[in-house]
Amino acid sequence: MNAPDSRPPIQAQAVELRGVRKDFDGHAVIRGVDLRIEPGEFCVFVGPSGCGKSTLLRLVAGLEQASDGQVLIGERDVTDLAPRERGVAMVFQSYALYPHMTVHQNIAFGLEAGRRLGRAQIDARVREAAERLELTPLLQRLPRQLSGGQRQRVAIGRAIVREPSVFLFDEPLSNLDAQLRGQTRLEIARLHQALRTTMVYVTHDQVEAMTLADRIVVLNGGRIEQVGSPTELYRNPRNLFVAGFIGSARMNFLPVQVEALAEGQVRVRLPGGAVQALPAPAAELAPGQPLTLGIRPEHITHDVGGAAIDGPIEVVEELGEDRLAYLRAPDGTLLCARWGAEVPLAEGEPGRMYLPARRCHLFDADGTALQDAH
Ligand SMILES: Nc1ncnc2c1ncn2[C@@H]1O[C@H](COP(=O)(O)OP(=O)(O)OP(=O)(O)O)[C@@H](O)[C@H]1O
Ligand SMILES: [Mg+2]
Repeated sequence: MNAPDSRPPIQAQAVELRGVRKDFDGHAVIRGVDLRIEPGEFCVFVGPSGCGKSTLLRLVAGLEQASDGQVLIGERDVTDLAPRERGVAMVFQSYALYPHMTVHQNIAFGLEAGRRLGRAQIDARVREAAERLELTPLLQRLPRQLSGGQRQRVAIGRAIVREPSVFLFDEPLSNLDAQLRGQTRLEIARLHQALRTTMVYVTHDQVEAMTLADRIVVLNGGRIEQVGSPTELYRNPRNLFVAGFIGSARMNFLPVQVEALAEGQVRVRLPGGAVQALPAPAAELAPGQPLTLGIRPEHITHDVGGAAIDGPIEVVEELGEDRLAYLRAPDGTLLCARWGAEVPLAEGEPGRMYLPARRCHLFDADGTALQDAH
């Protein structure tokens, strides 16, 4: 839809963090972050609670001042600029709508406070955003007359009308129920496709991160653990932390020992005694060395396909199409496999799980991945 104030398309901007640190009361919360987000990219921050995701986003927004380092937006150093001067708009978990204002007034508010636009121009932009977010029939309602998902769309609308060159989202869907979360997630994906604006998005939700992101940034304790596309992080986690964090159900970890070495290959002994040959930089390893083997539940097979681990099936969880089977390995580890309903399974019965070599990840004692997966 064309608005009467014909204006140039929004220019997507890069966001860059250079050596950014943030202390709160002498306590380091962001411990040196270097990151470049490309113009138009959809970048998602994930990590455990308290790792600094919101703080990092607020540093980009200008709601927090960096203790050290620089923030650049569109190649311009904005470290000392106020939030309003940065060309960003932020959408929070709580919608923070004005209860006494209509949807129209709430969306217009971002514009009226900031720029000198005529009433007709403001109205046109509000209607354009409302159309995009399917809010047009609701423009005269008050926030209390809306569902949670509709309120969050109003909050997004308020950000859209400001035509920011960067959108920042801090867990915008976490107050919504599962169905609305799915719908609103699709709307955000569509919005990104339509606007092609740079988006930085914080979430706890694996599905949101995997489906929305061009690149995911995994944070832990105020540092970046790894940056990569969803597939890269899933296939080639750089360390135990990322391996355990990305993917659900979680990757299994088993203690193993180096049995023998050959060129580019290591043979490891699994709990229970089976030996598995895996690609690895043999020169860096020594016989007897303890390692951790990682394998995702969806990669464990129930028929031949690698070394096997035997033990009782302790628990079976129904997921509908699939089931999660938990086997107690000889060393006490609970090993989880995701299998189709056709695999015969009974709690308390003996079980066997096969670990296909090409699906196994190896980590050294520091938790660093030994090889790229395949
Ligand atoms: N204004 C503040 N003053 C003091 N400490 C703060 C402040 N804001 C955040 N922190 C601390 O900084 C750390 C990171 O907080 P932050 O909100 O960035 O985490 P988060 O990754 O967003 O967590 P969550 O997933 O729970 O939202 C936490 O330990 C938090 O207690
Ligand atoms: Mg947070």
